[in-house]
Amino acid sequence: MIKSGAQVKVVCTPNALDFVTPLTLSTLSKNAIYSHFFVKETGEWVNHVELGKWADAFVVAPCTANTLTKMANGYCDNLLLATYLSADCPVFFAPAMDLDMYLHPTTQHNISTLLSYNNIELPTGEGELASGLVGKGRMCEPEEIEHILSSYFEREESLLGKTILVNAGPTHEKLDPVRFIGNYSSGKMGKAIANELSSRGAMVHLVLGPVSADGLDTKIHLTKIESAQEMYKACSEIFTTCDAAILSAAVADYRPASQEDQKIKKKTEEFNLELVKTVDVLKSLGEIKKNHQFLAGFALETQNEQENALLKLEKKNLDFIILNSMNDKGAGFGKDTNKITILEKNGKKHTFETKPKKDVAIDIVNLLATYL
Ligand code: CTP
Repeated sequence: MIKSGAQVKVVCTPNALDFVTPLTLSTLSKNAIYSHFFVKETGEWVNHVELGKWADAFVVAPCTANTLTKMANGYCDNLLLATYLSADCPVFFAPAMDLDMYLHPTTQHNISTLLSYNNIELPTGEGELASGLVGKGRMCEPEEIEHILSSYFEREESLLGKTILVNAGPTHEKLDPVRFIGNYSSGKMGKAIANELSSRGAMVHLVLGPVSADGLDTKIHLTKIESAQEMYKACSEIFTTCDAAILSAAVADYRPASQEDQKIKKKTEEFNLELVKTVDVLKSLGEIKKNHQFLAGFALETQNEQENALLKLEKKNLDFIILNSMNDKGAGFGKDTNKITILEKNGKKHTFETKPKKDVAIDIVNLLATYL
């Protein structure tokens, strides 16, 4: 990292100093080494908060099974863990341990926990391990770590200066004070797109229906709404300031014609509900879209998928449309994976495998980035 121009400060656990001397680490990093809460000789307190705020990235390498477990569970019994909890920069961790330790369900569970906190796992290598066993558990090679970090920072700036609107989640159309018409959308796909855009430096406005906003990048500007009408109002205002918009929300197509002030009582054997059409948010943005703006939407289809998606692309004046077929296993509401096909206005078609929604978001943003 020093060779590629970074400033480096080394924080290590006391046990790490059994492997490598403080002198080696301080000579190489050109900085003091931080290993204890207090400097023994002077009694001076080491400010882990300042260290955590100073860094643009925090790399835990090698990340032992012990440190990994403690990071995943919020332990704070050494300086490295206190710095981890104080860091407000991206955290990369490079697991390094023996084969069975790496494969143990506890370790895998802890890795998943760290990933759910948006920490980034550096790929664990395969090969000969310290025990003599052969398999997965080797720390990612230093050159590869440097390469991954450099690309991370390059990518982090690739959408800098761009303002992008995303909408996600369902809408709830009120019937009376205690009931609504809704759908099963979880908002996971749109939230993953918003996070991906934000991680590339874009200023992201997310208009989110009534679902959890957990797991969102703190830089994202969040507007929470309930109904299709509120979704329309928020999106049409924000869109005028944007370079692009990706609309993934499952906006209700109909809402009750009237909303009762009091709870509707069950008086009759039959009950007919009159519904009226809601505004099509995507179509309305397509109508006000300027030449310099890009607009993408989703299509959820169960039959004649591509044909229907292309009709929507044209009718709503989109640059591309992301087709979700309900016939694909691994795609659909509430799932953590998705399978998409993207159809562009210029006739190009991109098909993708079933992937975690986080990776689907990367594919979508990669395409949008070519437009921007
Ligand atoms: N959409 C919208 N406002 C609506 C309905 C849909 O903005 N009132 C947007 C969705 O966010 C999605 C796209 O339109 O990006 C397509 O939604 P979809 O449900 O597939 O299609 P609809 O246009 O609602 O048509 P249909 O239900 O007849 O398939």
